[in-house]
Amino acid sequence: MQKVIITGGTGYIGSHTVVEFQNAGYEVVIIDNLSNSNIEVVDGIESITGKRPQFYKADVACHKAVDDVFSKHDDAIAVIHFAAYKAVGESVKKPLLYYHNNVQGIVNVLDKMQEYNILNLVFSSSCTVYGQPEKLPVTEESPVVKPESPYGNTKKINEEIIVDTLNSTRKLKAISLRYFNPIGAHESAKIGELPLGVPDNLLPYITQTAIGLRKELSVFGDDYNTPDGTAIRDYINVTDLAKAHVKAVSRLTEDHDRFEVFNVGTGKGSSVMEIILAFERSTGQELKYKIVDRRAGDVEQVWADTTKANTVLGWKAEKTLDETVKSAWEWEKRVRGESV
Ligand code: UD1
Repeated sequence: MQKVIITGGTGYIGSHTVVEFQNAGYEVVIIDNLSNSNIEVVDGIESITGKRPQFYKADVACHKAVDDVFSKHDDAIAVIHFAAYKAVGESVKKPLLYYHNNVQGIVNVLDKMQEYNILNLVFSSSCTVYGQPEKLPVTEESPVVKPESPYGNTKKINEEIIVDTLNSTRKLKAISLRYFNPIGAHESAKIGELPLGVPDNLLPYITQTAIGLRKELSVFGDDYNTPDGTAIRDYINVTDLAKAHVKAVSRLTEDHDRFEVFNVGTGKGSSVMEIILAFERSTGQELKYKIVDRRAGDVEQVWADTTKANTVLGWKAEKTLDETVKSAWEWEKRVRGESV
């Protein structure tokens, strides 16, 4: 059985990715410091797949901790690197925290991959590296711009560190997956997104509002140059996104370019109002919302050209927007102890 190491494997996207690797027959080793997740996620994974992944509570920003795990699992064929801080607003307030954690993490991972001959890396990047693209949909050739936040900058810097490292050694290969907006939860409602405190992202805010934890959703701006005036994103189902990582590892183990980038989205943009309507339609819940000012740093509209992922990676988003939004609701109800 082929083995992969997944850093950040108890996090939101990480946990769904562990499930998809196990379903595809891989053995999974998780490294996670549980700074933004909890150990019960491993129970959820086990309950879905019937198999418990190996788990190490360890911090990827700690060189020795990465060494301890990689030295024990030097038979792994790939590392999927998720472990990183991800709150945009917090990164503006605490840039050094973000640079320390997110940059040291990739440095340690690459260093130990070289030392222990684990040759393939899948990196969790973001469409934030494109900023507001001039042309839509955005392809992998679209220019990478100066990110709006230290968080976004760590994604850009991580990609640069990966390329520099690959250029210095003939050994390693890497794929960077630039995610658009991941939403939803596993169809079993046994794992999902668990934001700490008040959510920044749209879907958790919507589900927490509908369940009564928040008074109402604030829609950030209805005066954008879009058909209904609200901002447009490409919302990708988290299980679909997780499957792209399995495809990426297959591709890395074949003969191909040493560094590749893929956009991972649906190829379709949805406005904030369209998401609200999809939520109401798919769950039968009415959502309280009000229009407020634009949020600083938000781009107007972005969605992916997924041709490269579809044709080269052999991956395509499968789930509909309605079933994805509904899965987020089923998860919210389960987390809050309501019957699903
Ligand atoms: C944000 C980050 C992005 C990161 C991603 C991770 C910014 C500028 N970008 O994307 O770098 O990779 O999260 O998931 O923060 N909205 C509301 N009301 C809310 C929350 C959001 O109207 O309470 C709107 C936003 O204005 C935006 C859309 O919903 O138009 C999506 O917002 P969000 O889920 O926060 O994601 P992004 O901002 O696109």
